[in-house]
Amino acid sequence: MKRYLIAGNWKMNKTTGESIELAQKLVESLKDVNDRDILICPPFTALYSVYQVIKGTNIKLGAQDVFYENSGAFTGEISPIMLKDVGCEYVIIGHSERRHIIGETDELINKKIKAAINNGLKTILCVGELLEEREAGKTLEVVKTQLEKGLNGVSKEEMKNIVIAYEPVWAIGTGKTAKPEDAQEVHAYIRELLSKLYSKEIADETIIQYGGSVKASNIDSLMAMPDIDGALVGGASLIAEEFTRIVKFIKQ
Ligand code: PGA
Repeated sequence: MKRYLIAGNWKMNKTTGESIELAQKLVESLKDVNDRDILICPPFTALYSVYQVIKGTNIKLGAQDVFYENSGAFTGEISPIMLKDVGCEYVIIGHSERRHIIGETDELINKKIKAAINNGLKTILCVGELLEEREAGKTLEVVKTQLEKGLNGVSKEEMKNIVIAYEPVWAIGTGKTAKPEDAQEVHAYIRELLSKLYSKEIADETIIQYGGSVKASNIDSLMAMPDIDGALVGGASLIAEEFTRIVKFIKQ
């Protein structure tokens, strides 16, 4: 049975000490949550220390990126094996900041996704349009391309390890959230695409998160939408009280 998945993407924030402190606060404030899945994605440097804090609790660990080889001469990169070694169960791949600031392509993202799932990591594939793409009426087209290319070669069986995050780029870190109805439209479209690419059953079982300026004040209305199955939270996940309220959203 599908469960809501609320994930915190800490991005390039928090030293090891600060990460431990935030994780400790969340362990305490979220300990009574048992009907939804909770994930935090600290920076690479804090993964091991945070895992020591959350091990055995209801909070899972994820990384913000991964490379597609298991080891070798790839200076600066981190492999799926290394992520599992420090306690990661999940990894975010294709985040818009990696697509648009670092220059990651759909092809590279696809290689990373395959490597991650081959190593037993659950993968959050991020998709979403730029403001100019939305204004040009290209939102669905952009999302379709990112989804199809990202999932190229991913089997029906492997889809149980895939989560999709719809994150309109213009809503990330800007304070502008997509209207719940607008997000719902894209989520429903993604589910329809998954149904065509795989099956209705797989489409129904796949978690589709919304991301982009999710806050304590807007989470309830977003989660009221039928095709929004969770959230990928950036800025607001850095504040224990905010993230706690987001995880404890009230289903309307
Ligand atoms: P934001 O980031 O919540 O700060 O907008 C979301 C994300 O980039 O995953």
